[in-house]
Amino acid sequence: MATLVIGGAGYIGSVTVEQLLGAGEDVIVLDNLSRGHREAVAEGVKLIEGDMASPAVLKRIFHDHPIEAVVHFAAHSLVAESMIHPLRYWENNVQAGITLVRCMLEAQVRKLVFSSTAAVYGEPTQVPITEDMPLAPTNTYGLTKLTFERILRDAERANGLRSVCLRYFNAAGATERAGEDHDPETHLIPLVLEVAAGKREKLAVFGDDYPTRDGTCVRDYIHVVDLAEAHILAIRHLRGGGDSRIYNLGNGKGFTVREILEIARAVTGHPIPAEIRPRRAGDPATLIASSERIIRDLGWRPQLGDIREIIRSAWSWHQRHPRGYGASAH
Ligand code: UFG
Repeated sequence: MATLVIGGAGYIGSVTVEQLLGAGEDVIVLDNLSRGHREAVAEGVKLIEGDMASPAVLKRIFHDHPIEAVVHFAAHSLVAESMIHPLRYWENNVQAGITLVRCMLEAQVRKLVFSSTAAVYGEPTQVPITEDMPLAPTNTYGLTKLTFERILRDAERANGLRSVCLRYFNAAGATERAGEDHDPETHLIPLVLEVAAGKREKLAVFGDDYPTRDGTCVRDYIHVVDLAEAHILAIRHLRGGGDSRIYNLGNGKGFTVREILEIARAVTGHPIPAEIRPRRAGDPATLIASSERIIRDLGWRPQLGDIREIIRSAWSWHQRHPRGYGASAH
């Protein structure tokens, strides 16, 4: 039996595919390559180029392959874009998600691991954030992810589809072969490294008047390999008959934008110039996860929590892939 990884050519998806293979799992990838890269899919893995919004595509896959579980990464995930193009987010993150659930149920596939986000909490009332804290997304992205979590809750109650929703905090870092390559890039660590690599002149720091220790936003950065490992535990939990769960995934430690800059300067040996710019709309001041629940329930143990190592791994990948996955990539 195989695991279908939808969005397996994207950043977190491609690393999860790599880790699943390493764990001896049988994997098939579905990706429309709108934001992912063919080159990111580990060698030997079947890549089906297609869209999960299409019932025909999903039906064919479930018909042709013995799929036991689905891991769903194929959502849009940019906060700012979600405010400019909200319908794109509702269509892709919710409507296409419903199509997936319908087709899974028709095919009697009833195990799903879903990439959710810290954005479901909005501006938290306290940190570290536990899963039972108020859910109050401040942007369409977070709202669409929360909506799909709710759909999954109904799909379990009414249809017996069991799921694990993983609420990621800030994914970062790389493996030997897979790293972060977005177009456009909006995430802090890759942008900082682009400055270090001479591809950008300086970093724009979005706001230095937040109620944090140095005025810049605090985030909980988690190595993409540790994130990927949580998906394997989630699949095994569902395979073992476990019920639906929701888990935060972070290291429980927060770093300011200025601290990330300092560490990146030390790792790269580059001065990385930066200038303070106005706040970016919708950025919460501080997001730090409590991951106690997944540690306790599933025995998840982040192995690569050191922020220097996270940035070092991203820098190493960046140096080996100065143009990301390359001009030929999608
Ligand atoms: N930042 C800058 N300059 C930049 C880019 C980012 O100062 O050029 C700052 C941001 O303001 C923020 C921090 O760096 O304070 C991290 O920003 P990212 O864009 O890397 O990540 P976010 O925390 O905004 O976003 C992440 C995920 C989203 C998720 C969100 C939850 O990428 O998918 O956390 O709020 F929705």
